[in-house]
Amino acid sequence: MQGVDPAWLPDGVFRPIGTRRTLIRGSGPLVDTVRAEVAQACARFGGAVVRADPDLVLELTGDDGSEAFTYDRRGGCTTVTASGGAGLLYGFFHVVRLAEAAFLGEARRERHRPGLALRMLDHWDNVSVHPVMGQVERGYAGGSLFWQDGRARGDLDRVRAYGRLLAACGINAVAVNNVNVHAAEARLLTDRLPEVADIAGALRLYGIRTHLSVTFAAPVVLGGLETADPLDAEVREWWGGATARVYSEIPDFGGFVVKADSEGQPGPFAYGRTHADGANMLAAALEPHGGTVHWRAFVYDHRQDWRDRSTDRARAAYDHFVPLDGEFADNAVLQVKHGPMDFQVREPVSPLIGAMPGTRLAVELQATQEYTGQQRHVCWLGPMWSEVLRFGIDGESSVGSRAHGGLVAVSDVGDDPFWTGHPLAQANLYTFGRLAWEPAADPDGILDEWIGLTFGDGPAAGVRAVLAGSWRTYEKYTAPLGVGFMVQPGHHYGPSVDGYEYSPWGTYHFADRDGIGVDRSVRSGTGYAGQYAKPWAEVYESLETCPDELLLFFHHVSYGHMLKSGKTVIQHIYDTHFEGVEEVEAGREVWASLAELVDPARHARVAERFEEQLRSAREWRDQVNSYFFRKSGVPDARRRRIY
Ligand code: GCU
Repeated sequence: MQGVDPAWLPDGVFRPIGTRRTLIRGSGPLVDTVRAEVAQACARFGGAVVRADPDLVLELTGDDGSEAFTYDRRGGCTTVTASGGAGLLYGFFHVVRLAEAAFLGEARRERHRPGLALRMLDHWDNVSVHPVMGQVERGYAGGSLFWQDGRARGDLDRVRAYGRLLAACGINAVAVNNVNVHAAEARLLTDRLPEVADIAGALRLYGIRTHLSVTFAAPVVLGGLETADPLDAEVREWWGGATARVYSEIPDFGGFVVKADSEGQPGPFAYGRTHADGANMLAAALEPHGGTVHWRAFVYDHRQDWRDRSTDRARAAYDHFVPLDGEFADNAVLQVKHGPMDFQVREPVSPLIGAMPGTRLAVELQATQEYTGQQRHVCWLGPMWSEVLRFGIDGESSVGSRAHGGLVAVSDVGDDPFWTGHPLAQANLYTFGRLAWEPAADPDGILDEWIGLTFGDGPAAGVRAVLAGSWRTYEKYTAPLGVGFMVQPGHHYGPSVDGYEYSPWGTYHFADRDGIGVDRSVRSGTGYAGQYAKPWAEVYESLETCPDELLLFFHHVSYGHMLKSGKTVIQHIYDTHFEGVEEVEAGREVWASLAELVDPARHARVAERFEEQLRSAREWRDQVNSYFFRKSGVPDARRRRIY
C-alpha cells in the first residue's frame, strides 16, 4: 500500500516462497487467499504456481474449520497440510516466517495448533470523534482504521492489509468498536449494521471474525422498550431478534463484547440482576448462531471516597464475580484484565483468574500503551505479558492454560502510516498474536522473529538492544515497586505523583513522611492478598516473601525498609529513576547509530519519538525523586541532583 509501512510483511520476506514452485490443492475462500498470496509473491520474484514437480505443497484436506496444520519436509519438498482453510493460511505464513529455512534440510514433521482458540484484538474505536477521547479511546496511532467521517471507510484496502498482518501473527478475532458504547456506535447493532458487514467481509479473507461492542441498554435506547432487565421476556426477545439480524448479514459474526456496570456504562445492577443474568441473556441470543458474549470483569466503584480506607479497588473484580462461578452459560466468556487494577506497568496477576474454575475466562492485555508511554516511549511489553501467561496461578497451572476463553488485547493500531504511531510498537502487536498462539513461547524468540521479518539482519542487534529491556526501563523511570497511577489524571501521560491521590478512582499510594505503599495484607490491610490461592496468598501476605517489584502494591513500608536487593526503598527509588533515564539515553544512541541500516522514514519517526521519550523520562525522574526526597528528607546516598 502506498505510503504505508509494510511492518512484518515487507516484500522481501516473500522471496523464498516467491522463487519456488508451489502446488496448491483444495478450494474455498481461504485457499483462494493463500493462492493469491503465492501468485503475488511469484509474480514478484519469478517462481510459479504449478501442477507438478513442486518445491512446496500447500494442501487443504477437509473443511472442518480447524486452525491446525502439519509442516513436513522430505525428498526436497516442503508440505503444509491442513483440514481447515484457516489452518492452511497459518501454515502458509509459517513457511513465510521460516524463509529459506523452510526449503533446506530433511524430514521434519511438525504439528502446529494454536494454544488458545480465540486470539482477539479489541479496538476502542469510536465511529465519530468523541469530544474528550478523540476517535480512538486511548489511541496513539491516529484515527480509526475502520471508521472515518462518522461512518465506515468506503475504501477497505487498509482494513484488508490489516487483516493480512493479523493473520500473519495468528490473530483471528477483532472487535471493531469501543467498549464504551456511545450513541452512534450503539446503532452498529441495528440500522448501521451494513457498515459492520463491510468490515467483516474484508477481515474474513484472512480468517478473522468480527465482533461488536454493544450497550446493555440497547433494548431501551434502540428498541424503545421501557426496560433492559435481562429477565424480562420482551427484552430477551428484542435481543434474540437483533442478534438474528446480525447473523443474517454476517454469518460468521463472532459475538458481543460488553462493558456493563463499569465506569458509568449501563448494566444489570440497575434491575437488581446479577452479571450472570446479564451475560446469560446475551449468550442465549447468540447461542443458536454459534456466537459468544465476552463479558468484561472490569467492575469496580469509580466514585469512591478517598478517605475510605476499607474499600480496595484491587479486590473488586474478585468480590463481584467469584460468587457467580459456575453460573455463566457455556458461550459466555468472562474477560478479565490481567491485573486487578488497570494495565499499570507493574501489577500482580489478577487473583480472579485462579478463582473461577467453573467459568470460561479470557485474559485481557493492553497493547495500546495507555500507561506505558502512549507510543511515544519505546516499551516492548512481551516480557510482561509472558510473565503473566506463565504465572502459576495456583502454584501449578499457568494463566495461559486457564484462559479457555482466549487472549484479548486492546489494539494499538490506527490509521497512522506506521500502524502504531511509534514504529517499534508494532512489536507489541506481533508479540501479542504469537503469544496468543503459543502462550508458553519465549518472548525473546518472538522479538527476534519480529525484528528479522521487519528489519532483516542488518540492524537486528541494534533494534534488539533498543527493545529487549524497554519495559523494565520504562518501569524504572516511572513506577517503583508496584506503585501505580502516578500519572497525569485524564490523559494519563507524564508524571503527577499525587494526580490520583485524592481522587474517586480508588488508586492511591498513601505516601507520607514515613513511608509509602498500600497495605493489602489480610493481617492488617484490605485483605486483598487473601484472594490468591496457595502459595501466593502467603507469599504476598508476608513482607519477608513478597517480591520486591510488588512490595508497595501489597505493603506500606518505611522509606528505610530494606529490600531483598539490599537497598532501601528510598535508595531504590532514586537509583532506578537515574538508571531509567540513562537507559533511554543509551537506547537513543543505539537507534541513532542505525540510521544507515533502517528505512529513512521509519528511522526518522523513531528518532523523533526518542527525543520526546527522553524529555519525558527526565521529567518523570525529577518529579518522582524530588517528591520522595521532599516527603522523606532522606538524601541520595550518591548525592546526585534532586530538586
Ligand atoms: C481504563 C481506560 C478507559 C477504558 C477502561 C476500560 O480505565 O482509561 O479509557 O474505558 O480502562 O477498560 O473499560
